[in-house]
Amino acid sequence: MHIYLNGRVIPRAEASLPIDDRGFMFGDGVYEVCRILDGRPFELERHTDRLARGLRELEIPVPDEAHPARLREVTARLLDLNGHRAGEATVYLEITRGAAVRTHHFPPAGTPPTVYAFTTQLSPMDTLRERGAAVITRPDIRWLRCDIKSIQLLPNVLAKQAAVAAGCAETVLVRDGIVTEASHSNLFAVVGGTLRTHPANHLILPGITRALVIELALALGIPVNETPVTAAELPRVDELFLTSTTSDVLPVVRCDGVVIGDGTPGPVARRLQAAMVERLAAGG
Ligand code: PDD
Repeated sequence: MHIYLNGRVIPRAEASLPIDDRGFMFGDGVYEVCRILDGRPFELERHTDRLARGLRELEIPVPDEAHPARLREVTARLLDLNGHRAGEATVYLEITRGAAVRTHHFPPAGTPPTVYAFTTQLSPMDTLRERGAAVITRPDIRWLRCDIKSIQLLPNVLAKQAAVAAGCAETVLVRDGIVTEASHSNLFAVVGGTLRTHPANHLILPGITRALVIELALALGIPVNETPVTAAELPRVDELFLTSTTSDVLPVVRCDGVVIGDGTPGPVARRLQAAMVERLAAGG
């Protein structure tokens, strides 16, 4: 397996980083995960836009690899070398503030960011998408800049682990009685025929799939209201589903042991799944 690190494509086993990389010391960096279909990155520009915004917010210099053209080149090379060109794959790109003597404040100007990328083959989640997933809820203990796709993911790690320990697919996060999103996906509810989801503010990651699903829903004539559902409303919603790059539209049929709707993927989720499959086939 080959990876990309600071300008070089090298065998994974040969990759090494300075021990004082700020990603390692402080979680001081951002990342992206972009879907690849038969070698074609899907909606790459939306990912690089979000990445560039995160870098600017954190005052990390924007490296070449954060630009679509360069990222396409790096991705193509990794897909070829790793035999990931056919079928579904993802490219992961991480940029940290670089390596420097440990101080909390920023390192000296000119410290080069660390840039790391790898590709993986994606095994389709078809069975789970057909059957629907079970989730649990937990308090959202993250910081107040969840809009930045930071590599600092400890609350997300703990939340996802709680789901795994409970035999569930995801953990839905609740802040002050309001459902924000999930450990690594956004959440939608269907209430009285309207899609409800948390607004894209500092309390959630503005998911690329979330944005696409909103566009697809509006094109299908499904009303969208970016007003979050409350934890109290959750057990009574008509449908629930998660969205992310790796799971598309994943219906939720059970939340904290309570059956959602009739316990099978609902009609709105199904329509959006189908629309998403078409959108993916059309490329981006
Ligand atoms: N996770 N919310 C959070 C907290 C996420 O980590 C993600 C993505 C999403 C969905 O965003 P998108 O539709 O752009 O993938 C929402 C990625 C896939 C990950 O961490 O692996």
